[in-house]
Amino acid sequence: MLVNLNKILPLARKKKYAIGAFNISNLEMAQGVIFAAEKLKAPVILQTSEGALEYGGLEYLAAIGHVAAELNKKLPVVLHLDHGKDESLVERVIRSGWYSSVMIDASRYSLEKNISVTRKIVELAHARGMSVEAELGAIVGQEDLVKVSAKESTFTDPEQVKKFVALTKCDALAVSIGTAHGSVKYAPGEKPVLDLGRLKKIAATTSVPLVLHGASSVSHDLLVELHKTCNALGDCERIHNAVGIPELQVKKVIALGISKVNVDTDLRIAFTSAVREKLLTDASFIDPRKLLGPAREAVQKLVEKKIKSFGWK
Ligand code: G3H
Ligand code: 13P
Ligand code: ZN
Repeated sequence: MLVNLNKILPLARKKKYAIGAFNISNLEMAQGVIFAAEKLKAPVILQTSEGALEYGGLEYLAAIGHVAAELNKKLPVVLHLDHGKDESLVERVIRSGWYSSVMIDASRYSLEKNISVTRKIVELAHARGMSVEAELGAIVGQEDLVKVSAKESTFTDPEQVKKFVALTKCDALAVSIGTAHGSVKYAPGEKPVLDLGRLKKIAATTSVPLVLHGASSVSHDLLVELHKTCNALGDCERIHNAVGIPELQVKKVIALGISKVNVDTDLRIAFTSAVREKLLTDASFIDPRKLLGPAREAVQKLVEKKIKSFGWK
């Protein structure tokens, strides 16, 4: 059943669990996610970035999401645009009628411009029964690795939250509290610590469901899988500095009001490790299904683990 964020996030915030939002860009990733959700009977958010749309095409990826929702009449499935930075693309996604939810990411602008851009998208989306996630404060990326002090200047200011939510009428709010996108979230020597005090203040000023981006754990187990093939491929150095958000930290922020947890990097690692492993250990096939089937299974296994760890029972 295709639903928007409002059907699942307010309850999650109230009951202190989080819904997993998983980035997909092909059939196998989407099926890995949806098979896990089906198995656990857990609501799920399938999300596509602007890059995923460029790669797979809006209609093709949306069709996969719709089939997943259609085949699971009782399971709430949200089809969500992740980090819509290009307003004309966000508007195209809304007008397409294919998605049930969008994120407008105007966090790079001044507060006033972020509010006006977000508000316009909210009006357009709400008129079509769609939900909108907005971002206040900016979540840095792998390429933007900056010192903690500089990073903090991009953190969400709790003083701005009430006004932002009231004026934009957004349905969910992405907050910046110390995470980063990608597999190298911290500079060498820097501790993966989230600003829980800031999150508490934010959560105290608004009941809107909060979103944690850059939430991949890049766990030891996942890296072990990747490392199995790094010698053969000669890229052990490249992943040397990989570090994510420990599962325990994610649990802590869920208890404090985070109701949507975004995961992309961990899925990419699981998928790619399975593909590498298959290619390096078995060259006896030319059937892509033999290559991508194990990757789909690896994604499903990981997503099942994530859903459970985010508190869904
Ligand atoms: O939020 C960032 C996601 O990991 C999307 O990454 O733009 O490479 O698809 P991408
Ligand atoms: P990761 O890179 O930590 O998986 O974050 C994904 C994300 O925030 C997508 O919006
Ligand atoms: Zn993100």
